[in-house]
Amino acid sequence: MVKNKQTAIITGGAQGIGFAIARKLGRIGYNLMLWDLNKIRCIAAVADLQKQDIEAQAFEVDISSEDSVVYAFKQVLSQVPQIHVVINAAGIVGPTGIKTEEVSLNEFSRTCQINLIGSFIITKYSIRAMLPNDYGRILLISSIAGKEGNAGMCAYSASKSGVIGLVKAAGKEYADSGITINALAPATVMTPMVEAMDPIQVKYMTDKIPMKRCGTLEEVANISAWVVSSEASFNTGFVFDLTGGRAVY
Ligand SMILES: NC(=O)c1ccc[n+]([C@@H]2O[C@H](COP(=O)([O-])OP(=O)(O)OC[C@H]3O[C@@H](n4cnc5c(N)ncnc54)[C@H](O)[C@@H]3O)[C@@H](O)[C@H]2O)c1
Repeated sequence: MVKNKQTAIITGGAQGIGFAIARKLGRIGYNLMLWDLNKIRCIAAVADLQKQDIEAQAFEVDISSEDSVVYAFKQVLSQVPQIHVVINAAGIVGPTGIKTEEVSLNEFSRTCQINLIGSFIITKYSIRAMLPNDYGRILLISSIAGKEGNAGMCAYSASKSGVIGLVKAAGKEYADSGITINALAPATVMTPMVEAMDPIQVKYMTDKIPMKRCGTLEEVANISAWVVSSEASFNTGFVFDLTGGRAVY
């Protein structure tokens, strides 16, 4: 296999969707930088990848903190001359199974701080790192909840809608720069995040999928790998669908 040699940062890379995408890119030959708040799990994820002969490093990063993200970019750029790909898969589900009137401001803010403000911070500094090379691929993991809204999950839905607005605006701003900025909007995929949710809330989400099944981690990884590849050169400011037919736009 010819090694791809590109460097990819994947936030939320310690588990779930982030880890699945990391493994896929690692198999293609990318040099991986896994960023996650959970240092222990991130180190374990890197060890797992290294056992498969995949080049990877673990970084403890809080995507909702500008200082933490700026510091992590500096660390990466002290080791490699170019960052080709950034995928933001870090996120939290926030309050679920609860109506809007009962949601506390703290929980709503915290969900938006990580999912939306974190996406903004990652996007801003990814663009800065990529502009000097006139090349980059930024992929933010949004959600079908951001398009349609999931009842019982107003904070999550609002934060993921914000991510869609962010890629649509930023994608246009940098359309002629060589940097593409896209989002992925999956329906339910079984990960530790979903396993920790109330089964009634999960049933509500999966019942809406016309294919009558959840998406798989492989399906998320496959489409993500294409969106961040150099082949995906005429796609920006777009929200890619992965919903088994649930999305109507
Ligand atoms: N699983 C699904 O059904 C589904 C569907 C649509 C969208 N998504 C989105 O995909 C992304 C990944 O979801 P998942 O299901 O793999 O979740 P997960 O909980 O299994 O993994 C999320 C990872 O993000 C990390 N993380 C959380 N907050 C962080 C922070 N502030 N800074 C850095 N890392 C942080 C966690 O430690 C964890 O390793 C999320 O943005 C989620 O909203 C998931």
